This record gives sequence, structure tokens and C-alpha cells, in this order.
Amino acid sequence: MKYKNPSLSVQERVNDLLPRMTLEEKIAQCIQIYIPPDHPGEIVDRIQAVGLGSRILGAVSLAGNVSQRTAGIEDLNEIQRIAMNEFRLGIPVIHGLDVIHGLRVIFPIPLGLAATFDPDAIQKTYNIAAEECFRLGIHWSFAPMLDIAHDPRWGRIVEGFGEDPYLGAKMAVAAIKGFQGELDENGYQSQDHILACAKHYIGYGSAEGGRDYNTAEITDHTLRNIYLPPFRAAVQAGVGSVMSAFEDLNGEPASGSRYLLTDLLKEELGFNGFVISDWASVAELIHHRVAANEREAAQIAFDAGVDMEMVTECYAHHLADLVMEGIISMERLDDAVRRILTQKFQLGLFDHPYADVQKSLEIRDLSAYHIAAREVTARSMVLLKNNGILPLPGDVRRIALIGPFVNQRRALLGTWVNDVLADEPQTLEEALRASCPDVEILTAPNGLMDEMIMIAAEADIVLLALGESNARNGEYNSIASLNLPAGQEELAQAVAGMGKPLAVLVFAGRPVTLTRILPHADALLYAWHPGSMGAAAAVDILLGKVNPAGKLPVTFPRGEGQIPVHYNHKSTGRDHPRYLDMPVEPLFPFGFGLSYTRFEITDLVVEPVEIPAGASVNVSVTVTNTGECKGEEVVQCYLQDCVSRRTRPERELKGFQRIALQPGESRRVEFTLGPDEMSYYGAGGSWVLEPGAFKVWIGNDCKASLEGSFLLK
Ligand code: NOJ
Repeated sequence: MKYKNPSLSVQERVNDLLPRMTLEEKIAQCIQIYIPPDHPGEIVDRIQAVGLGSRILGAVSLAGNVSQRTAGIEDLNEIQRIAMNEFRLGIPVIHGLDVIHGLRVIFPIPLGLAATFDPDAIQKTYNIAAEECFRLGIHWSFAPMLDIAHDPRWGRIVEGFGEDPYLGAKMAVAAIKGFQGELDENGYQSQDHILACAKHYIGYGSAEGGRDYNTAEITDHTLRNIYLPPFRAAVQAGVGSVMSAFEDLNGEPASGSRYLLTDLLKEELGFNGFVISDWASVAELIHHRVAANEREAAQIAFDAGVDMEMVTECYAHHLADLVMEGIISMERLDDAVRRILTQKFQLGLFDHPYADVQKSLEIRDLSAYHIAAREVTARSMVLLKNNGILPLPGDVRRIALIGPFVNQRRALLGTWVNDVLADEPQTLEEALRASCPDVEILTAPNGLMDEMIMIAAEADIVLLALGESNARNGEYNSIASLNLPAGQEELAQAVAGMGKPLAVLVFAGRPVTLTRILPHADALLYAWHPGSMGAAAAVDILLGKVNPAGKLPVTFPRGEGQIPVHYNHKSTGRDHPRYLDMPVEPLFPFGFGLSYTRFEITDLVVEPVEIPAGASVNVSVTVTNTGECKGEEVVQCYLQDCVSRRTRPERELKGFQRIALQPGESRRVEFTLGPDEMSYYGAGGSWVLEPGAFKVWIGNDCKASLEGSFLLK
């Protein structure tokens, strides 16, 4: 049988296999089932009844903060054995799991990873996660999440790369390359890679009121220019699967929209992987009340372009009849199956269906991954304020280490962690003691506020560790108030009253409001939920072993009243919009982050200043480290199309580079802006490049004031 021959190309093998398949065998490929781990006896029956294209390994629909058993390698191999040996054609099952920011070694939450502004580091991170998965028999991760978010109340802002389409696109490509690697000339991925899934297509991050799963209304113009770019980049990078979102978008549930899934994603963008629904989002078409029953739900979703159904069984029960009655065409079914089989061949599943137990043991020693994690984690942290008290001076003798995050472990990992596999992180106290054995570290063993205040009075400097729990983020965990949980602002205020230098660390899965904390802090380090090596990385920064250079991938509002909040707003017809009771400017702008050194950005040159359509300009600046220590700066380039037929943002990020400079060192940094950077989706969704003037700014956040311009003829 040709399809079993690994020396043939992926395409040849799919072409050979597809015509051999019966209707039932084809439909089985379109089904992802959940097999409860505790009922092994039922597995074969269940597979016979509903098919086995794929198996999801999460045990609950609201995974992320729930401790759950994850299938072991023998269990995975046993299911694979059934698929390979007890079915006529021996088509392997693809096992999927939500590996969102690491499997055993947990990296910062994706929002924190975005703050690195470092695609190479992100690629390495996802590559490590892929290696871990591959060796444990997990073939597919439901990541990266590419939802743009303008509302920090939304609990899933934690899981994406922030508010900016350009940064989101760069991070999407890095994550996908890290997971999937490159294809060889016959179309195969190399070993140690897995299948990525760009989700949640599309607009899920725009849930009304920040309430998860809620309705979204996004004009086609904004959908294409703001929400689509990360998905477009993912498709261009060859992402193998896309997950359709839960929400109702513009009057159609995203999992039942032919326009979104087939016209836009598959036909216009040319996506040739397969679409999987979100958990039960096919059956939920009934809850949205666009389908009267499961059969209608199956018909709408499959016709719209959902190739595989996650967990619910509308396809299992109704697709065969729908095809036999001619309501769904055999071409559509073949198209779905071809897409799914292509990915299975590409992953090498037909040739290496089983996880190698020996290889899985090789990663018992995670030390290399820990080193990588510590590095990227320190790169993700953002210094938001520093009156000069950080890094901690070498002669500090007594540190008061207080606050609710001094002894946290699980909360440091953030949401979306498979607890049973994740390694236990050090606490902040353990990490600080390990790095400063000669310093006296005072803690409040009972965690009481009066105790903390007394300790603060005795110390040279106070480190106050604040934050929110991992369980306050993630799926279905939206909040109405962005303040830190009760008591923390009061604690900051009371401790500051002791008059000691105060450095605040915040561990959180979203932007929280810092308006009432900031005035009391001499320094503030935003550490996100930083993962397995989070405490060690934070200590590296506090001690100055690492100079912070992370930048905010989202705007930090002063309060909830500023939501929706994002830097790339449009020009208005009247004066800049305002509030009477709060400044309209956020607390911290997109792209903001300090360093222990200073950088000067000067001498902006645009070359040439006039170009014909299709040509590029180079914009360059000199960046100088004018401070006393080496450091890294994220140099950011923003663009404005001065006059356009459709309204456009006042400025948009169109380039960034994270560069390292020694004290006194200068470097020319150059950005190339080409037709892609200058174009946008205009009337009727067409991709347009309009002649006219452009302005460009380069600086170290979105407020950059060093300006140039050019003319597109
Ligand atoms: C629902 C979530 O929305 C999605 O992101 C996740 O991948 C699936 N559940 C599977 O757990």
C-alpha cells in the first residue's frame, strides 16, 4: 500500500489513502473524542462507535486552573495501538493537549512572553515545549492563542500576545516555527516537533464587557486590520491547524460562519491545514439558537468549514446521513479529510506512531530547559518605575521580604498548567535566600499586616511582593475590577509609611491597576505570572545580574473606566476624546519599560524620502547607551499613513529590534518599511497601497517623538 511508504511525498500518500476510505472511515477522521482516563474497558467500544481521528487529553472543558490527571505514555501508546492495529487502514490517532506556555518546565504566561519583544526567544521557548510534548507522545498543542485584546478584565488576555497586530503576528510566527519546525522537501516535519493550532479564530478577545464567551461586534474593517494580522501571519508561516472560536461575531457564531472559515481563512488567506472547533462549539450552535438540533449544528459547522469537531458528537451522529442525503457533498468531506490526513503524514505519525519510552526518559533531567526558562523569564519582566533603588546595592544588609507572593508556588506558574506534570517552582523567598546567603532576610511568618510593618521598620530596604492568583485568570475567569485583590493596596500604603526604600513586585496575569500603588513605590517590577523559574529570574533582576528590558505588550489603564484601551486608536473629527473625571492617557503606554541604564535615540534618517509604489524606505536611528551598565533596548518603529480613504490608527507599530549595548556604545539601527507595512485592508476588504505622505517615529515606546516622513508616489 503506497500510503505506508515513507519515501513518498506527503501529497502522494494522501492521494493514495483517501480513495481507499469508506464514508465511515472518512468521518472518523473528523472527530476528536475525549476518553475518560478511568474507563479503559470502554475505549475500544467508544472508538468503534464514534471514530478516532483525534483524542483530546484535557479532562475538563475549563482546563487551565484545575489539577487533572494527564494520560501517561503507555496509555497514549495503547490507544495508538488500537488505531493502528484494530482498524482496517491503520490510520494513527493525533493526541492533542493544551500546552500553552510549557509542559513540565513552565515559561511565563504568553502575555509575558510577548513582553520580551524577542521572537527568537519565543521560538526557542515553543521549541522546548514541542520537544517535551513529542517525547511524551503528545502530537499537537492548542496554541498559540492569537486573540488581540483591548480589555484586561477578560481573563484570557493572559494567554495572548497583547493588543498589537504587528507584535502579535511576529510572536505568532515565532511560536509556530518553534512548535512545528521546518518541512523537508517531501513535506515532512522533523522529529521533536508537533502541530500548532492558531486560536481562537476570530474576534474572541473582543467579548463584550470582557466577559468570556460573550458576543462580539467587530466591523469588517477592524476585523481585517486589527484582529486578522496574527492569523494571516500564522497561515503564511504554515500553521497546520486553526481553532474556531466560541463567540457570536457580527450575528454569526464563529464556529458556524462560512464567511470567516471558508471564504476568508481557507480561500482568501489560502489556509491549507484543518479547522478544529473549540470544545463543544459545534453543539453550542444550538445554544446560540442558530441550529435547532445536533444534526443542524453538524450541517452548519461542517458546511462553514469546521473540519474536526472537538468533544461533542454532532459529526459522529449525523455527518453520514447528511452526506448520504446529499446535504453535505462528498467533495467537502474529502476536503476535510485530506486536510487532516496531510497533517498526520506531515507529522510523521504514520511512520512513528508510538512514543518512545526510552526517549521520554531522556528528558528527566530538565536542567538545560531550566536555564533557558530563567533567561527568557528575566527577559519578560518589565521595570515600570525606579527611583534608583534597584538594582539592590551591594552593601544592603537587611531586606524585608513581605507580601502575599513571598511564598507562592502554584500561583507563579499562572493559568494553563498541567499541574501533574509541571515542576514545582521555587518561592521568591527561597530564590532570594539562595542568591544572597550573606544578607539577612526578614519575613513575616504569619503573614499579618502588623508583622510586616514591624519588619519593614527594621530593614534597609523593603521588597513587597503583590499579585493575583492564577485562578483569577484564564478561561471563564473575567473580573470587573482591575484592582489587586483586597488589602494589597492598603498594605503598600502602610508599608510605605515606614519611610524605607520600597521595591514592589507584581505577579499577575493581566494589567492590574497600579494607580494607587505606584506613588508609594520607589521601584516597581512587573513580573507577570512567570513560570517555573520566575522567582529566580525576578531575583536576577533585583540583584542586577540581569538588566531588565521587557516592554509592555498591552496598555496599562489607570482604571476600568478607560477600557477598551489600546495605543493604536484612530484620529477623531473633533479634539482628542476626554473624560471629565480621569485623564484620558493611560498609566503606562504600550511598549513602555525601563532599564538600569539609559538609552538615547537620535539622528533619524529616512532614505529615500520619495518612493514609487512597491518600493521600500529605510529608516534608521543611532541608539546610544548613555548609562553606566550594559543593557538591552527594544527600539520601536511606528508608522502613520497621513491621509487614507478609510480611517486608520494614529500610529502603528511596524518594526522593533531588541539590541544589546555596552555603556557608552552606539549603534545604527535600521528598519525597512515596504509595501506590506504601508498597506491596509480598505474598501470591500481589498488590500490597498495608497499613494501619499507617511510619518514615521522611532523611540522606546509608542509615545516615540523622534519623527521623519516620506512620500509614496
Ligand atoms: C476551550 C478553550 O477555549 C480552548 O482554548 C482550549 O484549547 C480547549 N478548551 C481545549 O481544552
